[in-house]
Amino acid sequence: MKISSPIGIFDSGVGGSSIWKEIHQRLPNEDTIYLADSINAPYGNRSAQEIIRLSLKNTQTLINMGSKIIVVACNTATTNAIDILREQFTIPIIGIEPAIKPAALKTKSRSIGILATKGTLSSALFHKTAEEFTKDISVIEIIGEGLVPLIENNQIDSDEMNALLKEYTSPMIAANIDYLVLGCSHYPYLIPKLTEILPSEVTIIDSGEAVAKQTQTILENHGLLQKENRIPTLQFYTNANPSTLKNLLANFSEEISVKEKEF
Ligand code: DGL
Repeated sequence: MKISSPIGIFDSGVGGSSIWKEIHQRLPNEDTIYLADSINAPYGNRSAQEIIRLSLKNTQTLINMGSKIIVVACNTATTNAIDILREQFTIPIIGIEPAIKPAALKTKSRSIGILATKGTLSSALFHKTAEEFTKDISVIEIIGEGLVPLIENNQIDSDEMNALLKEYTSPMIAANIDYLVLGCSHYPYLIPKLTEILPSEVTIIDSGEAVAKQTQTILENHGLLQKENRIPTLQFYTNANPSTLKNLLANFSEEISVKEKEF
């Protein structure tokens, strides 16, 4: 592992690009490789065993491509597989979990909402964190069934998406939440829609910035942080149709290209 090696990032699909953006903004000198395992998305309804198998495969691919650190930009993969990944590989591995703690500490209405996949909400790691921080507040957990496939299929602005978001947020609004935690890295792309639907008192939080900060800290601790001012190489790979990822990244920069790769 060298300072000049890239940061390897993977997600079940295109959603982790929301995390990539935070990492790239915070660490603009770092080379990055992003892997979208879209052919296997969504992970959220798969068994823990399958999620572990796919996470091992993605991590190994990124290591083979020379990564110096792995960012699991997927809550479902983190909450089901991070312990096993850390057991199997010696490279530093960063995960992403729903930001329950900050929401629980800040809520005034004593009621928060969490939107995440079934795989995340049913994981032992999620339960452990939720139990620790939400003892005396009410937590409305909603599975975002169908949201990831719509995002993967470029349907963020569809009527179906609007209908699902209204359905999923309505019990949260009824429970008077003042924080909505986005527990899936695909969901930051839904923030403009959610802002329209939710009352203005509701603050939406996701974990992107925290993951980027943690990546910086761990790289620094391992002596792997790129401090030289340079133009980075940014690589994006998908094992499915590249058009959705291209579209999501086009808002960020027209220059970025997405390549197809089997993995
Ligand atoms: N981006 C993944 C996450 O953060 C989506 C999981 C899925 O594919 O269902 O959980």
